[in-house]
Amino acid sequence: MTVSIIVGTQWGDEGKGKITDYLTQDMDMVVRYQGGNNAGHTVVIKDKIFKLHLIPSGIFYNNVLCVIGNGVVVDPAVLIQEIETLKSQGFSVSNLRISAQAHVIFPYHRYLDQAQEKKREAGRIGTTSRGIGPCYVDKYNRRGIRIADLYNEKVFREKLDWNIKEKSFLLDKFYAFDKKIDIDKIYVDYLGYALAIKQYVALESTALINEAIEKKKNILLEGAQGAMLDVDHGTFPFVTSSNPIAGGACTGAGVGPTAIDEVIGVVKAYVTRVGSGPFPTEIEGKLGDELREKGGEYGATTGRPRRCGWFDAVVMKHAARINGLTQLAITKLDVLDGLDKIELCVAYEYKGKQITDFPTDIHRLAECKPIYEEHAGWSEDTTKIKEYNDLPENAKKYLARLSELAGVKISLISVGAERGQIIEV
Ligand code: IMP
Repeated sequence: MTVSIIVGTQWGDEGKGKITDYLTQDMDMVVRYQGGNNAGHTVVIKDKIFKLHLIPSGIFYNNVLCVIGNGVVVDPAVLIQEIETLKSQGFSVSNLRISAQAHVIFPYHRYLDQAQEKKREAGRIGTTSRGIGPCYVDKYNRRGIRIADLYNEKVFREKLDWNIKEKSFLLDKFYAFDKKIDIDKIYVDYLGYALAIKQYVALESTALINEAIEKKKNILLEGAQGAMLDVDHGTFPFVTSSNPIAGGACTGAGVGPTAIDEVIGVVKAYVTRVGSGPFPTEIEGKLGDELREKGGEYGATTGRPRRCGWFDAVVMKHAARINGLTQLAITKLDVLDGLDKIELCVAYEYKGKQITDFPTDIHRLAECKPIYEEHAGWSEDTTKIKEYNDLPENAKKYLARLSELAGVKISLISVGAERGQIIEV
């Protein structure tokens, strides 16, 4: 029996969907613990591409209970669409559970997200416009509406009234936002959504998860986004509004830290970022464009082109520490096939000094220059390799250095999008 957490170690989009899908073969339960439909997990099964935003990718396996935990923010219209799409593709969703404690995203959250971004102008975060931040604000302001509230019509109407009064005032008077909020429509729509998802709602999701732990089941707690988008430990304010790091699994699923056995960090062999904010190892120009095309680096949620950069061991070390990583799963190694030289950032230069502790203040970070170590590339195609020993020597050297700098062993290496393109180390 193992309780494992899977986390992104960079700015999201490390390929967690693929690794989660692989690990799920041995799982009884998969729990998503934070974020919302800002995330996009891509899974490729027999040349078919599946994109999930809310439902854990464990749903592709029979007998795996997939839980949307209390720490997730749920847009029910998106969730219902995802359920319907899966059903139409022949997958059963009867193993889906949604925590009644999860907070609900309303249209006014999306409007606020858009209005705030517009008003920020130059300081724009580049959010996904899905209403994630404003929904978490309501949660922490204790005004949010949870899934459970949708089944108590009186409580729901009262909370909705209050929220809509407040948001209408803000949108109208402060943001001069052009869309109006129609409370009656939202009320009726959301009662309909509540009915549609009722069969999946877990009234006591933490009891469900903890009972599985007590029964010594294999459980995977799945984070969205990545460590550098963590609201506390990332490149604030260019972050998401939750805690993707491993600690977020404890609050977002209701699991005590002593129950956790493994923390698996998903690491892309290079680095990408969508949205604004500092990115020390960003590669601009032709090479950056080539990596983007070869790696298919376009957002799974918004389709935005991702910024591409060299592997950053300063970020990696920070991620290893704040997550307590016990293993690394390397993804997209094959995207580096055919490069003559590969740069690996081993430290930053800050005010004439060499530093390896990640500066979490973006103003200090902006003054940092990456210090690179040059590695020889490899010309071989790695996409069909099944054994670690068959990897090109230079690829092995690159991976060994990466693992050494992280201080964490590598357990998996992904060399393509398909399920079978994975090497166990
Ligand atoms: P939000 O989560 O929509 O508020 O966006 C905040 C920041 O996080 C923006 O820079 C987004 O591009 C980024 N972000 C949110 N979700 C993801 C993700 O799943 N992958 C990569 N970046 C993300």
